[in-house]
Amino acid sequence: MLDGKRILLVIGGGIAAYKTLDLIRRLRERGASVRALMTSAAQEFITPLSVGALTADRVFTDLFDREDEHDVGHIRLSREADLIVVAPATADLLAKMAHGLANDLASTALMATDKPVLVAPAMNPAMWSHPATSRNVAQLKADGTSFIGPNSGEMAESGEAGVGRMAEPLEIVAAIEAHFAAQSGPLSGRSIVITSGPTHEPIDPVRYIANRSSGKQGHAIAEAAARAGADVTLVSGPVTIPDPKDVKVVRVETAREMLEAVNAALPADVAIMAAAVADWRAEGASGQKIKKDGSGKPPALKLTENPDILATIGNGASGRPRLVIGFAAETGNLIENARAKLERKGADMIVANDVSPETGVMGGDANTVRLVTKDGVEEWPTLSKREVAERLVTLIADCLKEA
Ligand code: C5P
Repeated sequence: MLDGKRILLVIGGGIAAYKTLDLIRRLRERGASVRALMTSAAQEFITPLSVGALTADRVFTDLFDREDEHDVGHIRLSREADLIVVAPATADLLAKMAHGLANDLASTALMATDKPVLVAPAMNPAMWSHPATSRNVAQLKADGTSFIGPNSGEMAESGEAGVGRMAEPLEIVAAIEAHFAAQSGPLSGRSIVITSGPTHEPIDPVRYIANRSSGKQGHAIAEAAARAGADVTLVSGPVTIPDPKDVKVVRVETAREMLEAVNAALPADVAIMAAAVADWRAEGASGQKIKKDGSGKPPALKLTENPDILATIGNGASGRPRLVIGFAAETGNLIENARAKLERKGADMIVANDVSPETGVMGGDANTVRLVTKDGVEEWPTLSKREVAERLVTLIADCLKEA
C-alpha cells in the first residue's frame, strides 16, 4: 500500500514523540521511505540517533546547519516527499503553521512545502481545548491540512484524562494509507460542492423558521466523495453532527447565505444539493425581538420566497457544473414530483426519498432512495445513509468518466 511513498516526518517536542519511533517502523514495514526532521524540543524527548537508526537515513535538525542547507535545504526537504506527517504536532507547531511563522527547520519546511500535510496533535487536554488552539485547528483545516486525532484518554506526564493523546501509530498509518488511497481514488482531481442540513430563516433576532433535516445524508456524501479523492466543499446549514473528514466546511444559516457560499465554491465538476433549504423566509425580519402588544392578537408572519439554489446552479448558463444533482424529499407522489423538479431546476439527476414521518428518514440513519434521470427511474433498496453516499459517489465517478 505504501510502497515507494516518501514521507517527511516532522517530529515535534512532546512526550508522544516516543510513539513516532514505532510509527517509523510501521511505515517502513509497509514499503514507505521515511525522512525525519526533528525540532529542538523533540530532541529533548528522543534522540536523533534512535530516529536515524529507524529511518536508516540522516536526521535533519537545524535550519542553520551549513551541511544540511548545502546538501538538501528546507525547500528541497519539503518538496522531496509525497506527504508530510507532523507527529506529535504540539500546540506550538500548530500555532506556527496556522500563522505562517517560520523560525526553525520544521516550520520553514512546513511553510515551503507544496505537498499535503497530515498532523497528529498531542498535547495536554487544557491546551487542546484552549480557544487559541481551536482557532488554529479551524484555520489549518480551512487551509487544507488533514488531522488524525487527538484521542481521549490518560496523559503520559500528568495522568490527567481528556482529549489530547496522540493517535496510535497504527491509526496514523491508516490515515496515511487513506490519504494515498484517495489520491488514486475514482474522484481524484474532481471538485465537488455539496449542500447539507437545514437553513434557519430569522423572524427576529431570537426566533427562526427551520426544518428537521439532520444533515446526515449530505455530510455522508461529502465524506464519501473525499474518501474517493475529490476536493470537497461542504456548505452546511446549522447541524449538530461532526464535520466530515478532509472536507472544506463552510457554515451558513440562511438560504441566501447558502447560495452565496455555493457560488463562491464554483467552478466545480459536480454540485450535489442535499440541503433542506427553506422555501420561504420571513419578509422583513425584525431587528428587535417581537413583543406581545397586549391586544391579544398574534403578529402576522408574512413570508417571501427564497432563492432556489439548485435551480440557480442547474439552469445557470456559464460555469454550470458538469453534473448537477438535487434531492427531493417528499411525503407523496414521489416520482412525479421528482420528475417535475428535474425539469424545472435543470438538474441531471434527482435523488428522491419519502420523508413521511413513519419512514424515519428525517434524522434517521437509513434511507430508501430512487434516482430519477431523464432516462428513467432507478430504485435502490433501503440502505444506510453512508451506503447511499458510497453508491452515489461510484455513480458520479462513472458519469464523469463517460462524459
Ligand atoms: O423544491 P424542493 O425544495 O423540494 O427541492 C429540493 C431540491 O432543491 C433539493 O436538492 C434542495 O437542496 C434544492 N433546493 C435549493 N434551494 C431551495 C429549495 C430547494 O437548492 N430554495
